[in-house]
Amino acid sequence: MKILVAGGAGYIGSHMVRMLDTLGHAVVTFDDLSAGFREAVLGGVFVQGSLHDKAALKELFGANQFDAVVHFAGSIAVGESVRDPAKYYQNNLTGTLNLLDAMREHGVNKMVFSSTAAIFGNPQYVPIDEAHPQAPINPYGMTKWVTEQILRDYDAAYGLRSVTLRYFNAAGAAPDAALGERHDPETHLIPLALRAASGKLPELTVFGTDYDTPDGTCIRDYIHIVDLCEAHLLALQHLISAGESRAYNLGNGQGYSVKEVIEVVKKVTGMSVPVKYGPRRAGDPPRLVADATQIRKDWGWSPKYAALETIIEHAWQWERH
Ligand code: UFG
Repeated sequence: MKILVAGGAGYIGSHMVRMLDTLGHAVVTFDDLSAGFREAVLGGVFVQGSLHDKAALKELFGANQFDAVVHFAGSIAVGESVRDPAKYYQNNLTGTLNLLDAMREHGVNKMVFSSTAAIFGNPQYVPIDEAHPQAPINPYGMTKWVTEQILRDYDAAYGLRSVTLRYFNAAGAAPDAALGERHDPETHLIPLALRAASGKLPELTVFGTDYDTPDGTCIRDYIHIVDLCEAHLLALQHLISAGESRAYNLGNGQGYSVKEVIEVVKKVTGMSVPVKYGPRRAGDPPRLVADATQIRKDWGWSPKYAALETIIEHAWQWERH
């Protein structure tokens, strides 16, 4: 297959590029490096460019006949989206519309799209299955929700088929530590907790201890980056073999509180984690846990690295590397 990976220099995208390249597929990464890193692209061809640059997209699609697009490009921080919604609507909606236009103009009709648990807002029940009502509570979640509706309409009108994968919390690193999580600034819990353990950060701030959860801190479902990428491979195979559009929730189905994550970080590193308790972060739902029964049933997806300890071990190897 010849695959375009939009946002292939980012955390999830770079793992996907490496996996596709290792399996012998032709991969082209398109990334503006606003959040990604050139050196994270370990295979295929790299093209620096922005989804806001329609001429660059035209050139890209003119020069390559892609079988499918895997679309990771976008802004991803919930807190930032509350403070700067314009950035999120521009990058995640306008950028995606430009990409979809280029696909239509060049007869590319298959996309795997990165969506998020944030489309569900404050859950009415957990674990969250695909039938759960959708009501995003922050601009980031809203941009992904709107894109899901766009994809549905584009399928009906233009025959552009897509698989939407709604990630819960992507975490961990390549087991050989060649790639891992890298954001600037880093906002995610596991890398920040590891940095607090190793002394690179003076302390970790826990955002909110008064949630309606057993220990008062937020509960999340952490899924290993490799397991997440495996699901994208299955999605590509489905689309290539003429499968219809689908949307799946993707997580391990097990929730851990912020305090529990900190305990596992202490265990894995053998170090203490200096912690400060702070107020809630805007836009954070108390509890997000996936029900991924559907993708397991339909495609036999099953996580290789479901244990939080393994996820954090791999993240720690990467952090030290
Ligand atoms: N947290 C802290 N301190 C920190 C960082 C995070 O207490 O310094 C807490 C957060 O409040 C949250 C949990 O740790 O309860 C996890 O936070 P992350 O920032 O690591 O991840 P999020 O749950 O905010 O974000 C993830 C994905 C988003 C997705 C979101 C759904 O990265 O793309 O889940 O809410 F939208």
